[in-house]
Amino acid sequence: MQPASVTVRVPAKVNLQLAVGPLRADGFHELVTVFAAVNLCDEVIVRSSAAPGVSLTLSGEGAEGLPTGGDNLAVRAALAVAARVGVDPAIEIHIHKSIPVAGGMAGGSADAAATLVACDAVWKAGLRKEELSTLAAGLGSDVPFALHGGIAIGTGRGEQLTPVLARGSFSWVFALADEGLSTPAVYAECDRLREGRSVKDPYVSDLLLQALAAGDPVLLGKALHNDLQPAAISLRPSLGQLLEAGDDFGALGGIVSGSGPTCAFLARDEEHALDLAVALTATGLCRSVRRAQGPVPGARVTG
Ligand code: C5P
Repeated sequence: MQPASVTVRVPAKVNLQLAVGPLRADGFHELVTVFAAVNLCDEVIVRSSAAPGVSLTLSGEGAEGLPTGGDNLAVRAALAVAARVGVDPAIEIHIHKSIPVAGGMAGGSADAAATLVACDAVWKAGLRKEELSTLAAGLGSDVPFALHGGIAIGTGRGEQLTPVLARGSFSWVFALADEGLSTPAVYAECDRLREGRSVKDPYVSDLLLQALAAGDPVLLGKALHNDLQPAAISLRPSLGQLLEAGDDFGALGGIVSGSGPTCAFLARDEEHALDLAVALTATGLCRSVRRAQGPVPGARVTG
């Protein structure tokens, strides 16, 4: 019998708004965020294996530095599904990376979400969407959104999702940095910068929801906002220069993506995105650029 094999494609995310509230007793921050999934995708293949356990191999950009053992979120995702459905796992996972590693685009979370979907299919477990979402939330704050895709408001620590209706598709340019930033370090820097100031409860931007409902990229560009941006720039000052360059080159808006260091620039259309990508590359302020569109669906079986 041929070993079962399932391939899942999963998108990166950009936070169109990231409002960071007070630090909670559990070490997480209360958030209101608007996630958007973009078609910068990782591919995760899960195959049944003759050997017991879960093994992991990785390829693609930045794959060399990633852990392949039990501290990889994808391995933890596979073990979570196995425990939930009561199987002794015997699988090989392969991840092909295109989402920047430690880039603030939830690449690790995306791989975990894709592994949940792939294991569910390989083991013919038939878990409901809500059950997969519960497992996802146990793995990390951004994992449920990678399952969900599209555009959604995230509350709590980001894991509680409400879908947002948006018209049309938006064109983005992502400027990738040489070296990643640690998410906990950026949140800690945000706390340090805000020390002694009262932090308000976060709320979703009306302007942003209007822009999405209207499919209006100019309005969306104005509404982009990330409370982690000052912290990311404080840790990596060149991000400030990169955002200024994007502004000079006519981006409709520019923002640090999540905890950074990837910067996301909104373009008018695909032609504008191409011009912007060329101009940003020429600055020498980023390692490389990627164009992408969104919203797109979350983790999906493709083969
Ligand atoms: O949930 P996840 O593992 O992605 O979070 C990584 C880290 O980011 C947390 O350990 C925490 O330091 C920070 N974080 C936070 N508040 C959130 C989400 C993440 O402080 N809502």
